Amino acid sequence: PRNAVRGESGELTIAGVGVAELAETYGTPLFVVDEADFRSRCSDMMEAFGPYGRVHYASKAFLCTEIARWVEQEGLSLDVCSGGELAIALHAGFPSERIALHGNNKSEAELAAALDAGVGHVVLDSMIEIERLDALAGERGVVADVLVRVTVGVEAHTHEFISTAHEDQKFGFSLAGGVAMEAVRRVFATDNLRLVGLHSHIGSQIFDMDGFELAAHRVLGLLHDVVAEFGLEKTSQMAIVDLGGGLGISYLPEDRPLPIGAVAERLAEIVRKESAAVGLPMPTLAVEPGRAIAGPGTVTLYRVGTVKDVELGGGMTRRYVSVDGGMSDNIRTVLYDAEYDVRLVSRVSDADAVVSRVVGKHCESGDIVIKDCWLPGDLAPGDLIAVAATGAYCYSMSSRYNMTMRPAVVGVAGGESRVILRRETIADFLRLET
Ligand code: LLP
Repeated sequence: PRNAVRGESGELTIAGVGVAELAETYGTPLFVVDEADFRSRCSDMMEAFGPYGRVHYASKAFLCTEIARWVEQEGLSLDVCSGGELAIALHAGFPSERIALHGNNKSEAELAAALDAGVGHVVLDSMIEIERLDALAGERGVVADVLVRVTVGVEAHTHEFISTAHEDQKFGFSLAGGVAMEAVRRVFATDNLRLVGLHSHIGSQIFDMDGFELAAHRVLGLLHDVVAEFGLEKTSQMAIVDLGGGLGISYLPEDRPLPIGAVAERLAEIVRKESAAVGLPMPTLAVEPGRAIAGPGTVTLYRVGTVKDVELGGGMTRRYVSVDGGMSDNIRTVLYDAEYDVRLVSRVSDADAVVSRVVGKHCESGDIVIKDCWLPGDLAPGDLIAVAATGAYCYSMSSRYNMTMRPAVVGVAGGESRVILRRETIADFLRLET
């Protein structure tokens, strides 16, 4: 977090609140969100991309009522990709016209809820969905604004599971084989859908500009084809070019995120030039960052429970540090081989660092939070450790595995802390039992 400092005692303070007090007050594991960090990343995005269009926060990274309010107050729009995310956004009072609905298999109920709420637009993902949404809009006597999601055939340089724009995957309409152009034709042929632009999302945790640039060129290439077939006037209603999310963040000190100002300028340049080339006005450039806004400003606080040196043979040992959470609050290590930075944050230690493995309390050996890291050799039960940059895709992908109660999420700002999502309780579990 931007507002994290370490005092002389070795204790970490975030936005003026010490972690010992946080752990004492709210228990562990605990997600601690630096509100000013989150907000400043929103405003940085607005500063970079705002002049060219708009910024949608991808709520899948992490959403709750409070987060939706911060995003709203900072002037961003919001992407949701399920009825649940939509419901939370509406509950928070997020203006529906600034919400966009995503998803490759939105149910009729989700599409209907989006129409009834009056969301800004729906991002179409299949031919079946074109018919489905057209019918639902017709029943309601409304015309729904839509984008067509284009699969541009770019495989971002990132983990395979989180690349979404190469051809052999479930999202969008391929440029290959003219599928995307056919989708455009079909939307134009409906009575109740209005095509307002094109969308592309090439992957996540990206550090390389080339993929974004290529995607922009290809999306604009499709727009050229639309002009050729339907003419300028009809094409000019497609005024949004949405290039998705995917900006990488620093999980480890050596990670080098792209400078967002330069990304915005470069992409706007491509969009401007290629639109002008066919006589179209500059479209609204939209982006959908999730991780880059929510990720860096949050840490997970864990309390160390046990420390164990396991014999590996040949005189080698491995130190296992067990904490009070694990794969239920951070599945990313297990799922993507994600790497994290971790520190002892409750005191100073002069002990030599020891290669350690931070593991959770779940009943399987793959329950690893950090595979290899350096931690002080005198680490002991009761110590607090903090894992950095856990604000995106940790809480939102959390589970109740082993009937583990989800941690609380606490916001800190100006020396004060408050719960923005309370810790789950056994009573919450029992409420589901019939
Ligand atoms: N827009 C669309 C259409 C998306 O599918 C995504 C992420 C985003 C925006 C936001 O991407 P971001 O800026 O956060 O990279 N669970 C994985 C990440 C999956 C991302 C899925 N889509 C992880 O933990 O790394």
